[in-house]
Amino acid sequence: PKAEFVSDLMNQMTVDEKIYQLVQFTSDGTVTGPKTGDNYITWIKQGKVGSVLNCTGAQATREVQRINLENSRLKIPILFGHDVIHGYKTIFPINLGLAASFDMKAIERASQIAAAEASAGGVHWTFAPMVDIARDPRWGRISEGSGEDTYLGSQIAMASVRGFQGDDLSKTNTILACAKHFAAYGAAEAGRDYNTTDMSERVLREVYLRPFKAAVDAGVKTFMTSFNEIAGIPSTANKYLLRDILKSEWKFGGMVVSDYTGVNEMIAHGFAKDDQDAAQLALNAGLDMDMVGATFMKTLRKSYDEGKVSMAVIDDACRRVLELKYDLGLFEDPYRYSDEKREKETIYKKEYLDAALDIANKTLVLLKNKNNVLPLNASQKISFVGPLVSDENHIIGSWAALGDRGGVAVSVKEGVEKLLGANAKATFDKGVDFDKADPSEMNQALANAAKADVVVAVMGERENQTGEAASQTNIDLSVTQKNFLMELKKTGKPIVLVLMSGRPMTISWENENLDAILDAWYPGTRGGDAIAQTLFGQNNPSGKLPVTFPRSVGQIPIYYNHKNTGRPYLGPTDPEQKYKSRYTDSAIEPLYPFGYGLSYTAFAYDNFKLSSKTIRFGEKLKISIDVANTGSYDGIEVVQLYLRDLVGSVTRPMRELKGFERVSLKKGEKKTVVFEISSDDLKFYNIDMKNEAEAGDFEVFVGGNSDAQSRGLFGLVK
Ligand code: IFM
Repeated sequence: PKAEFVSDLMNQMTVDEKIYQLVQFTSDGTVTGPKTGDNYITWIKQGKVGSVLNCTGAQATREVQRINLENSRLKIPILFGHDVIHGYKTIFPINLGLAASFDMKAIERASQIAAAEASAGGVHWTFAPMVDIARDPRWGRISEGSGEDTYLGSQIAMASVRGFQGDDLSKTNTILACAKHFAAYGAAEAGRDYNTTDMSERVLREVYLRPFKAAVDAGVKTFMTSFNEIAGIPSTANKYLLRDILKSEWKFGGMVVSDYTGVNEMIAHGFAKDDQDAAQLALNAGLDMDMVGATFMKTLRKSYDEGKVSMAVIDDACRRVLELKYDLGLFEDPYRYSDEKREKETIYKKEYLDAALDIANKTLVLLKNKNNVLPLNASQKISFVGPLVSDENHIIGSWAALGDRGGVAVSVKEGVEKLLGANAKATFDKGVDFDKADPSEMNQALANAAKADVVVAVMGERENQTGEAASQTNIDLSVTQKNFLMELKKTGKPIVLVLMSGRPMTISWENENLDAILDAWYPGTRGGDAIAQTLFGQNNPSGKLPVTFPRSVGQIPIYYNHKNTGRPYLGPTDPEQKYKSRYTDSAIEPLYPFGYGLSYTAFAYDNFKLSSKTIRFGEKLKISIDVANTGSYDGIEVVQLYLRDLVGSVTRPMRELKGFERVSLKKGEKKTVVFEISSDDLKFYNIDMKNEAEAGDFEVFVGGNSDAQSRGLFGLVK
């Protein structure tokens, strides 16, 4: 019935009406590119708008839908889209933090709750998940994705698509997901947003495209193109990406939208001579909808009349848009998501806020804990200091949809006060701001710190230092915060740093000089509660880094699954020092590797076993290991499996993540963890660019981070 219904409708549509379905306008004044149209209500009345961006709330969406339906000839419902990135009202940790949980159920649940709240506010479509692999922490948008690894990124892509879309899009608590930004946006040169990318097809397919393919496999309904060019061709009109790979090879049946004014920007790229040229290039290349740029609305009819775009291409794009509206049930009832009663009942439900706390607890990564300074205990005198200690603004992170900040988001101070109750022997002082210090505030904080048993500094970046158009060449803590830490250090008290940031920061000095470091990313609406519970041991940290922390900006790009080179440097014991792949002024190892994160307890790995020394193509191999909790707390360990293909028809990375499992272990408990891989997991783009496994030897590593030490060898034989 869907195909028939859409065909019937399209038979009644004029060429212009079909083109207008491919047009999206923004309802607010927020512009991140050239603003091309203000009067969107007039255009809606003329039936020229298929989709509206950033109109949210049951009442507002109902009103805009009413104007559309009452004025347009065929009464085709409008599709409302909004960036619901890590929550709609109830805000979860930023996506890089969610990735640190290595917990796919948690990520699915966060997306499900975001969908339930957003859909109750009339939203049909989110522009998430962002599945861009990012190996460069200078890039501000590293905060919005899942980090550097393609396997982890693919698992997360699938989990969030499942969460947003559920198993039935016609249910009113699910929304359309969007895999973005297709493709290689995270590989922007020098980490500068919107910058050029260029890479081999092998790296493109093996690293950057895999999470997109995973999203397709999970049934994602929409894609967004990226702002960048790849090898000279902007993604917005990249026929190879959109038609050849996405729509033909992967058989993607959904719809592709541009990024905000991405079509117009092809003029600045030097790829199109004017809006008309840009629009026809994009549509012909496989782009279905123009976000905000008005190029489709203003020029496609002319291009059709001039024979530059065919009816078949317009029909194909229009059909894709209409099918989504059908899937959502909008033709049955265009107002079904705009339900004020449901909106009131759904937003900030207690169970959602509880989930926000539970999930935030899973995302915190303990980077250092000298002398077990953590967890703290309530009888200690604790001095909390730093610009983020009482903050309810930055804590929910950037691109936090309609999440409330002051008054709703829980600050660290509030979280600690709630947890300690009347017995609190804690003081709370800002001490310094991010970039300026008031001497009297600072002195008061230092005086309190000098009287305390332990100091907790809550510091980091402002939320707007991360996200879109927030690339930085310096990713240190600000000079003001660092100087303040140096003053605190003079008190001789143990210092714990709670770090909030949307990227790995260069914190070598902090690692050297402070006693404990807890990476909290931006932990969301219940962030302060999660941090308090973790500092005081009610939650034992279990997060692991989804991205490498460099020692300095000079090491970037740095990632765990690099190649060996012909002159690998084996470390300080290597006799030949000079002519090796290394730096003369820095170690080559990162500060903290991918997959790293401590716990208040300790885990021991033992009894590594492979089910066989060889497997044949199509066969499976079991890898097992005993993991024991040998410390004094119950805890959770993310056990990770890495492989290395020792010799290939093309060179292979030193290690590649192929599996992980969150294992919960009581104090003293031991469990056997078993991973299973097949020859399919050994595939790569070989010398003929065929995605195949090759016979040969493979090394297997299992452990608690990408430096995992338990290892074995097996062969893949014909
Ligand atoms: O979804 C976003 C995208 O990630 C960046 N540009 C604007 C879009 C819509 O808001």
